[in-house]
Amino acid sequence: MYEKIRETADWLRKRMPNSPKTAVVLGTGLGHLAEHIEKLLCIPYREIPNFPVSTVEGHAGQLIFGRLAGTDIMAMEGRFHFYEGYTMQQVTFPVRVMNELGITTLFVSNAAGGTNPAFRIGDIMIITDHINFMPEHPLHGPNIPPGPRFPDMSEAYSKQLIARADNIAAAKGIKVQHGVYLATQGPTFETPAEYKMFARLGADAVGMSTVPEVIVARHCGMDCFGVSVITDLGGMDVPEKVTHEEVQRAAEAAQPNMAMLIEEMVKNKMEE
Ligand code: HPA
Repeated sequence: MYEKIRETADWLRKRMPNSPKTAVVLGTGLGHLAEHIEKLLCIPYREIPNFPVSTVEGHAGQLIFGRLAGTDIMAMEGRFHFYEGYTMQQVTFPVRVMNELGITTLFVSNAAGGTNPAFRIGDIMIITDHINFMPEHPLHGPNIPPGPRFPDMSEAYSKQLIARADNIAAAKGIKVQHGVYLATQGPTFETPAEYKMFARLGADAVGMSTVPEVIVARHCGMDCFGVSVITDLGGMDVPEKVTHEEVQRAAEAAQPNMAMLIEEMVKNKMEE
């Protein structure tokens, strides 16, 4: 495993036009941010040695090296989901490679179903913590040093980055919620009973990604910041049908504010 990570990192390092310390996973809800990136180099996943290939509709599947708000960044346009059939090692492989390339801060975004009754469709939720409800753990198997065998998860999402996001949101007049993101394996959306169960377990939103990447990023010592766009509301008294199209539509509507938030976060980081 480590050999493959090294091999991919070496291959990318030879081609990289910049030296980013920040990486962004452009999930559902942040696709448009790609347009704000001054692109120096885009490499389709299929051309990168050892990289899995993205299959989901609406995900382009490429690694972008460029500048955002004057800062060197590396971005994943499209991610790998467990429900597509990838192993957890494949899902989190890009994060391992990022670490090898010197990334120290990871921004992630996703679409999620709101289980908190105070949430509305289109809300942006800053992820304060997560519940790993996936059936396999991304750190299952031999430990990859120098990360510890039993990593601490008391601050999976950097409190400092959350505080910064809150300041930016207040300054820009962007309404944000805060909450716990629970990751399921998917690909089904939840039954009304499952939404209710997850709400009782402490989740404010449910989705099918992010947690594996954040666990591995933390294992590598990266600071993480995550946002969810609330695309549907489960667990309410009247069950609503959820469709992929509806999720895409709601995510689309939240894009400008999501993009502004992340762009400001990246800019702010440089000014530290
Ligand atoms: N459940 C799980 N994943 C999701 C949802 C949901 O309601 N909405 C968007 N992704």
